[in-house]
Amino acid sequence: MNRLYLNALSHSNFSGEVPLWIMRQAGRYLPTYQKIRKTSSLIDMFHNSEVIEQVTLLPIEEFGFDAAILFSDILVVLEALGVSLSYKDGVGPQLFPRVSSEKEVLYLLKEKKDVEDTLSYVFEGIKALKKRLSVPLIGFCGGPLTVISYLLESENTEKLKATKQWIYQREDLVHTLLSLVTDVTEKYLAKQIDSGVDSIQIFDSWAGSLPLDLFKRVAKPYLKRLVDFVKAKGVPVVIFSRGTSLYFEEFLALGATAISCDGQRRVYDLRSLSSQKVVLQGDLDPELLLYGTTKQVQEEARKILKGMKDDPGFIFNLGHGILPQTPVDNVKALVATVRETSLVTK
Ligand code: CP3
Repeated sequence: MNRLYLNALSHSNFSGEVPLWIMRQAGRYLPTYQKIRKTSSLIDMFHNSEVIEQVTLLPIEEFGFDAAILFSDILVVLEALGVSLSYKDGVGPQLFPRVSSEKEVLYLLKEKKDVEDTLSYVFEGIKALKKRLSVPLIGFCGGPLTVISYLLESENTEKLKATKQWIYQREDLVHTLLSLVTDVTEKYLAKQIDSGVDSIQIFDSWAGSLPLDLFKRVAKPYLKRLVDFVKAKGVPVVIFSRGTSLYFEEFLALGATAISCDGQRRVYDLRSLSSQKVVLQGDLDPELLLYGTTKQVQEEARKILKGMKDDPGFIFNLGHGILPQTPVDNVKALVATVRETSLVTK
C-alpha cells in the first residue's frame, strides 16, 4: 500500500514526496462522476454500496491521489435518528423532519435506530473498497455543530442564523441535540473503523463561524469527545473547519492528529505558530483552482510546497472542498506540480 499519507499523519514522512488528496475529490468537477450522477439521484447513490465503491475510486484512477475518501455525506448519519434525507439540485440537503420546536427534538430522541443496520450500505462499501484500494481510505463524519445546523436552519446558510437563535433561546435543547448526534456519530465511527478505514476526518465546516464564546460552549466539547473517541481506537483523526486559521489555538487544543487548514492564513505561517507536533493539511484556495490559470495554480502550489519543504507532517490539500466546474486541467496541473517538486527535493 502507498503509505505516504499515513506516514505524514504519524509525522514521519521523510521521503521528500508530499502526499496529496483533495477534499470533495469524488464530486461534480469530474466528468466521470457527472455521467454516473445523471442516471440516479444523489441519495440513491449514497445508499448503494457498489456506487460508493465505484465513485470513491474515480479520482484515484484519474489522478493517482495518495488517499481515497469514502463517497458519502456528513448527513447520512441522521438516518440513524429517523431523519429522512434527500438532495435537491441547486438547493442542497433536504431533511425531514427539520427541527423547528421541542417536539421534533423529542421525536429524534425517541426514533433512534440501530446504526449498524441503518447505515449498513456505508460499511459494506468500506469493506469492498478495502479489497481494491492500494492507497489508504479516509472515513469521515460531520462535527456535531455542523450536523445539527442542517436540522435547525430553514435555509442552509453559513451564517448559522437559526442555530444562533436556538443557542440564545434554548441552549438546553441545543445540547440535547448535540449529545444525541455525538452519541450516534461515535457508533458510526466505531463501525467505520471496524470495517477498515485508515483514518477519520471530522468536517465541522461551520463551527468556526460561531463567535469564540459560543464555539467554546457548543462546538468544542463535542468535537473533543469525537477526537478522544477516535484516538482511543488508535486511528489518526483530522479536523477540518472553516475557522481553523481564526481559532487555531482552540483547534490545536483538541489534540487531534492533524488540522486541515482553511487557507485564510497560510499553512506555513500556522506551522511556525504551533510548538506542538501537530500534522498540517492544506491549503490551496479552491477558488484559485476554479478561476485561476494553470500557471497561477502551479505558482501557488510551489509556494505552499516551498513553505512546507522537508516537513515530515504535511499533507497537500485545498482550504475547502473542490468546487463544481473546476477545470480538470487545473487539477492535473496541481497533481503534476506536487509530484515534480517532490522529485526535485529528493
Ligand atoms: O470528499 C469527498 O469527495 C467525499 C464525499 C463527501 C461529500 N460530502 C459528498 C457530496 C464529503 C466528505 C462531504 C462532506 C460534506 N457534506 C460537508 C463538509 C465538507 C464541506 O465541504 O464543508 C458538508 C457541509 C456537507 C453537506 C452537503 N452535502 C451539502 C451542503 C451539499 C450540497 C451542496 C454541495 O456541496 O454540493 C451536499 C451534497 C454532496 N455531498 C455532493 C457530494 C458529491 C453533491 C453532489 C451532487 O450534487 O452531485
